[in-house]
Amino acid sequence: MTEPLLVALDVDTVDEALALANALRGIVGGYKIGSRLFTGRGPAFVEQMVGNGDRVFLDLKFHDIPNTVAGAIAAATRLGVWMVNVHASGGDAMMRAAKAAAVDEAAKAGTPVPLVIAVTVLTSFDQHQLAGVGITAPVADQVRRLAALAQAAGLDGVVASPLEIGLIRDACGTDFAIVTPGIRGAGDAKGDQSRTLSAGEALAAGASHLVVGRPIIAAADPRAAAERIAAACAGIAVRP
Ligand code: C5P
Repeated sequence: MTEPLLVALDVDTVDEALALANALRGIVGGYKIGSRLFTGRGPAFVEQMVGNGDRVFLDLKFHDIPNTVAGAIAAATRLGVWMVNVHASGGDAMMRAAKAAAVDEAAKAGTPVPLVIAVTVLTSFDQHQLAGVGITAPVADQVRRLAALAQAAGLDGVVASPLEIGLIRDACGTDFAIVTPGIRGAGDAKGDQSRTLSAGEALAAGASHLVVGRPIIAAADPRAAAERIAAACAGIAVRP
């Protein structure tokens, strides 16, 4: 199994998601369930995956007042997810409440504490979009600021585009997860991703986990595609 390789189950139905999960089990390190599948199919599917022994990254990017986010993180912890995320722009108090809820709820249930990570600046944002919401700092500075804020609040890592891995490693050190989407090999269609690296390049740059969607799930043979990416990761030291 390639522990850092996480597959985005960006499909609409439980049947499609389960078929993919079954085909990829043993090769990939976990499955990302995002707002598309969760909104359509709900928490029962997450519980089913967890019950199968799969590691689930629940990618719902919570951003609300601290009490509400704490409640959502507690609920995710009860589902047994391995990783969950919030928006760092929700601020220090919200992130501290999120982490505390994960720790408290896991202690009550006697289960492992899920990793709580933060989205810094969405990769769909460019300088112009950022200015539109009142932030005039360069994108890289804003990413660095929010990653440091997440770390100071006790979070376990961040989601980052391939091009931000280095600056976050420099700012946050080695003991901090960097979960990186936008992974594309030489022959892959880029789709709507513009800033991409290959799996091997992203790990070598310091990513701890890779989120791969279409290069695997839209392949004619998803298992073979995952095996190729896993082979490209083999032998590359992973941090942290
Ligand atoms: O299909 P692809 O490999 O582009 O899928 C990448 C996954 O990572 C998708 O689920 C996408 O929503 C997610 N993601 C991303 N960029 C971010 C955060 C999440 O592509 N900044």
